[in-house]
Amino acid sequence: MKVRKAVVPVAGLGTRFLPATKAIPKEMLTVVDRPIIQYIVEEIVASGIKEVVLVTASGKSAIENHFDYSFELEIFLSQKGKLDLLREVRHISDLIEVVSVRQKEPLGLGHAVKVTEPVVCNEPFVVVLGDDMVDAKVPCVFQMLKVFEEFQQSVVAVQKVPLDETHRYGIIEGEEVAEGVYKVQRLIEKPAPGTSTSDLAIIGRYVLRPEIYGCLNRTLPGVGGEIQLTDALDCLRKEQGLYAYEFKGNRYDAGDKMGYLQATVNYALTHPDLGRRFKEYLKKLVANLDE
Ligand code: UTP
Repeated sequence: MKVRKAVVPVAGLGTRFLPATKAIPKEMLTVVDRPIIQYIVEEIVASGIKEVVLVTASGKSAIENHFDYSFELEIFLSQKGKLDLLREVRHISDLIEVVSVRQKEPLGLGHAVKVTEPVVCNEPFVVVLGDDMVDAKVPCVFQMLKVFEEFQQSVVAVQKVPLDETHRYGIIEGEEVAEGVYKVQRLIEKPAPGTSTSDLAIIGRYVLRPEIYGCLNRTLPGVGGEIQLTDALDCLRKEQGLYAYEFKGNRYDAGDKMGYLQATVNYALTHPDLGRRFKEYLKKLVANLDE
C-alpha cells in the first residue's frame, strides 16, 4: 500500500516556549530563514508525499496562511520586480496540498491523530510532529517509508538517548531484526527511573497502518489526562506488530528552548549563504570563551 498522506499535528499550546508562543505558533518560529514547519513540510515533500493533513487549533492560522497564496504580497513583489522573492513565496504555496482538521481541545498527541480519521480513512500514513526537526542526508520520512515497504507494519522512529533522560520520552524495548530495525516487544511512556534498561526513545516520525484509528478509539486518557499515542501504539503492537527504526540523522526538539538553539546553530552552519561566515564567527566566539 502506497503512503500518500502526512499528518502534521500543530495544535499544541507550546507552553515550554512561552512567552514567545503566546500569540505565535511555535511551529512558526524561525530557524535561520524559514519557520520550523517549512523544514518539516520540505522533508515530507522530499520523501515523495504531497498531501498534508494539518491538525490545527485556534490561534494557528498563520501556519495555514504560510502555505497558502498571498495575492497582495505576490502582486507587490511582481510590481517591484522582486522576482526571486516572488518565486520563493510561490514555491512555498506550491509545495503541498493542505487539508486542515481542527483539534478542538489539546487532548494529547493521540487525540490529535485520532481527529484525522475522517480525512485519512483506510490507508497507511505518516505522522510528523510539527516541532521535531531532523537534519539528514536522506530525509528521515523517506528512510522510514523504506522500512515500512520492507516489513509492511507500522514503524516508529527512535534514537538513543542518555539513560538519565529516558523519563522524558516514550521508550521501546525490542529485538534487532535488521540493521537499526527493532521488532518492538514493549512500549513505555515516560518510564520512571529504573523501570526500563532501554535507551531507545521514540521521536516525532511514524508510519502508521490505518488500524491505529481503531486502537486510538479504544485508548483512554493516560499520563497527564491526555490520549497518548504511545498507548495506542502498544495496542497496535499487540494486534499486528510494530517496528522501530533507528534513523540516520540529527534530531532537534525545536519546541524546547535548548533544542531550538541547537537547531539554529546547526542549520546556520550548513546554510549555503551564511554557513562559512557563521562558522568563522563561532570559532572566534569559542576562542574568546576559552580565554
Ligand atoms: P508537544 O508536546 O511538543 O507540544 O507535542 P505542546 O503540547 O504544544 O508543547 P508544550 O509541552 O506545551 O511546550 C508535539 C507536537 O504535537 C502537537 C504540537 O503542536 C507539536 O507540534 N500537539 C500536541 C497537538 O497537535 N495536539 C496536542 O494535543 C498536543
